[in-house]
Amino acid sequence: MSKAATLSITSKWPEVTVVSQTPQLIALFTIIRDVNTKRGDFVFYSDRIIRILVEEGLNHLPVKDIEVPTPTDVTYDGLQFEGKICGVSIMRAGEAMEQGLRDCCRSVRIGKILIQRDEETAEPKLFYEKLPADIKDRYVLLLDPMLATGGSAITAVEVLISKGVPAERILFLNLISTPEGIETFVKACPGVKIITGFIDKCLNEKKFVSPGLGDFGDRYYCI
Ligand code: PRP
Repeated sequence: MSKAATLSITSKWPEVTVVSQTPQLIALFTIIRDVNTKRGDFVFYSDRIIRILVEEGLNHLPVKDIEVPTPTDVTYDGLQFEGKICGVSIMRAGEAMEQGLRDCCRSVRIGKILIQRDEETAEPKLFYEKLPADIKDRYVLLLDPMLATGGSAITAVEVLISKGVPAERILFLNLISTPEGIETFVKACPGVKIITGFIDKCLNEKKFVSPGLGDFGDRYYCI
């Protein structure tokens, strides 16, 4: 890896896992952070990172031992996922992560929570939620590409907890997070795990991720 490339800040939080900073991952982030990247490429390369995040997230789900027969008449001692899962996307931007989850988990159930950050105050507003009826019995992969102040994700976790989901069964997947947002989130949501693609330098004075990539939802869906 070139010495010049900026890598993620190392996680000092036990509940936060940063995806391995491989040259491939950094090259993908370089494309989506570039202000000159057009929408088609932004979507394609974001989807690549989302797939990597989902694959990492699945490593954090519980498994049990299972023995299977092989065609050579010798059994294989393997592993099997234990427990039911579902995805929950924080709309709008989190919906972009749904396909990556579906690609890995066939016919996975997906709930939605619509939270929008007030453009003036950056405070999250909850508008809508529709979640699987048995969500309290499932592991929840919470999907939102950006963790800036942490407000939106905290609001979403509060909704999940109010439905009976134990914090220990929530896994929050995001592409880019800030140290400030993580600090706030881990204090407000003890027990919830975070899988992030990159911890950026900081939250800037406008409450945007810096260097970040701008507004993920706008770049993925609109511009
Ligand atoms: C963005 C982003 C997160 C949130 C992060 O969404 O997708 O949901 O802000 O910021 P926070 O950590 O400070 O809460 P936004 O509210 O802009 O809506 P969008 O998904 O429609 O783009």
